Formats: sequence, C-alpha cells, structure tokens
Amino acid sequence: MSGFAFLDGQLACDGYPVATIARDHGTPLYLYSGAAIRAAYGSLDRAFAGYPHTVHFALKANSTLAILRLLRGLGASADANSGGEIEAALRAGFDPSQIVFTGVGKTRDELDRAVALGVNAINIESDGEADRIDALARARGVTARVAVRVNPDIDPNTHAHISTGLRVNKFGVPLEFVAPLLRSLARKPGLEPVGVHVHLGSQIVDVEPLARAARVLADLAREVRDAGVRLKHIDMGGGLGIAYDGVTMADPAAYAAAVLPAIRETGLHLIIEPGRFLLAAAGILVGRVADTKSYAGSPRFIVLDTGMTELIRPMLYEAVHRIVAVAPRPGADVESEVVGPLCETSDTLGHARMIGPVEVDDLIAVLDAGAYGFVMASNYNRRRFPAEVLVDDGQWRVIRRRQTYDDLFRNEQD
Ligand code: LLP
Repeated sequence: MSGFAFLDGQLACDGYPVATIARDHGTPLYLYSGAAIRAAYGSLDRAFAGYPHTVHFALKANSTLAILRLLRGLGASADANSGGEIEAALRAGFDPSQIVFTGVGKTRDELDRAVALGVNAINIESDGEADRIDALARARGVTARVAVRVNPDIDPNTHAHISTGLRVNKFGVPLEFVAPLLRSLARKPGLEPVGVHVHLGSQIVDVEPLARAARVLADLAREVRDAGVRLKHIDMGGGLGIAYDGVTMADPAAYAAAVLPAIRETGLHLIIEPGRFLLAAAGILVGRVADTKSYAGSPRFIVLDTGMTELIRPMLYEAVHRIVAVAPRPGADVESEVVGPLCETSDTLGHARMIGPVEVDDLIAVLDAGAYGFVMASNYNRRRFPAEVLVDDGQWRVIRRRQTYDDLFRNEQD
C-alpha cells in the first residue's frame, strides 16, 4: 500500500499506522510517504517520456534535505528561488549544472553565487537584472547561462494569490519586450542566452492556459532563432495542481498532451518545474485534539495542538484541506470548526467540517500538506517548528527533529 489510506479503521502511511508513528515522535508532526513521492514523480516523468525533458523540482514546495535526496535519486534536477534554496540543493547533492535559479528580486550576492557556481540557467526577470548578471560574470571572467522569464499575460484560472502570468503580476518580462531583450543578451560578453521560461501560476487543473503558454514560448524561440539567437531549452515552469477535494486532479498525461505539440516543433529541450504535484499528496500534518467545546448557540470547536504556524495555506489562500480523524470513533458526524491554538480567529484549519466524535488527545490528520506546508511554517506565538518523519523502503525515520526551546532562542543576544 502506498500513500495515505485507511487500513483496519486506522489511517496508515505506506501501510504503517500513523498513530504508532505519532506516538513515537509526538505532534504536531509532518509525515511523508516515500512511495507517494516516487509514484507522483514516476507518473509525471512517464507522461513526458517521449520527449527530451528534465524535471526540476521546485524547492519552494518542500526543501527538507532528505526529501530532496529522494527526488534526486529518482532523476530530478532542482529549481531554486533563493540563495538558501541553492544551498539546500547543493547540500542535497545536486550539481550546479542541475540547478535553475528563478526568482523576482534576486540580490547581487545571490546572483554572484549563481554565476560563480555556473548553474544551468539563471532566469532573468528584467533588463536591469540582465545587466547586473553580465557585469558579475565579466568580473569573474566567465559566461553565465541565462533564460528570460516571459510574462505572457495568460490567466491560469487559479487563486489570485498564486497567479503569476498576468500583466499585472510582478513576474517576468512582458511578452513584446522579450525578443529584443534576447537579441541584446546575445551581444553581451558575460551572457549566453539559453532559454525562455514561463510560470503561469500554481494549483492549475485546467491545462488549456498551459497549452497557450507553450505555444507563445515556441513562437518566441522561433522568432529569435530567425534573428540568430539559438536557444537550448524551453522552461514551462510548474503549476500542475492536485486533488485537494480528493477528486478534481490535473492529469500529467493531459498536461503533456497540452504542451508537447508546440514544444516538439522547436526541437528544444523541455524543462518543467513541478513542486506541488510531486509533494502535496505525499505529506500530512498530524495534530492532536487539545480541547473540544460545543456550547448552545456556538459552533462545535475542535481545538488542535497545530494550526497556522504549521500550515498556513487555509488562512492565506482559503485553501480547503481534507481533515480526518486518524482513528475515527463510531458515531454521527457533527459540523465542526477545526481550529488551532494560536491567538487569532484566522487560525482555522477547517470551517464547517462534518466530523465524528472526538476526544481530547485523539489524533487528527490534515491531508495533502506535503507541499507548501512545513516550508511556510513560522515561530509565531513562540511555537517550535514541528518534526518531520519520512516513511520509505519499509521503515520510518525522523528527517528533521522538532525544534527545542533552545533552538528558538539561539540567535538572540539578550
Ligand atoms: N516555478 C516557479 C518559477 C514558481 O514560482 C513556482 C511556484 C513553481 C515553479 C512551482 O509551482 P507548483 O508546481 O508548485 O505549482 N504557497 C502557494 C504556492 C506558491 C507557488 C509559487 N511558485 C500555495 O501554498 O499554494
């Protein structure tokens, strides 16, 4: 059995009872299924098998080193969005030639590090950034491989906060300025233009906008080739969504079928940068019931020992994550507010959820939390980062220990 499913009335991870693992390691706890990560990677990689491609995992979704090592072992490369993510990729064993460096607002120090390492490509966000990279590369006597991030003004039909390819968004260079920029890059001694890049947004389930974006990039690559700029790759970014409701899932085969026809015409290498698709369903957040109350005239509250500090997606994007009892008790479901312990009303993990009887100390799991979960955690209310456990190859192990109170105060000079 791979991934998360109920076995003999108990939630299990790759066949192992979640309750046993939580008893050993405490809560709040992030728990990952290695088998689910392998399955997701395999399904995406197979969908593109007929065309030369590289899967650059977007580290922003989850950059815990053991997870990165697992993905690297499967053949993944890396998409880093900051100096810290470049560092994570290197520590997990990725070669600089496997790293693409993306990001709006890269600092001079971060750019210099990427230039010095000789990463696969730096995705340029503006004319000014191109000039800065050129100067840094010339100062080092090297040539930096660069791609231009295109803002194609295409609506990916997703939540406004995670939509990135519209003209009003801060990302990329508006389409009509890209060809002139690429031609100018080819004349700069410190730069070698190698690609075009786009990232429309995240949690995309309708692949049609991705097909349009592929067409735009393919046309662009042809246009600049005719002007003498020979690119090597097209980077379609990430964005493929998962089934948070357990049903509406984007399909890797449909994704490949949508983008490949245009890409194939160019003959260029294809890069994709999936984050969520590879990790989201492979991780859960396990919490414990700290209190319950149901007074007449108020909702029934299930108060957990975990909340927005561990998983902020419901509060930030109105994201709906399924919430289940790890060992459901018999009895009728009751509409409930599943809330965390923080001093904020926004600290609600699930609103108006139908949940059966629960008692204090029962374990509760928030599903599909493997991507943009731990990485967005905070120490608000002086809470400690949770532990992370990975089940893989028939065993489970702590891949990040829970923060201690000493960890919390380590950097303070009192
Ligand atoms: N490449 C670039 C340039 C990106 O900006 C992103 C995500 C990805 C790849 C990976 O996208 P994915 O395949 O994961 O959709 N915190 C938000 C998601 C923010 C995504 C930002 N960029 C959330 O929890 O929904």
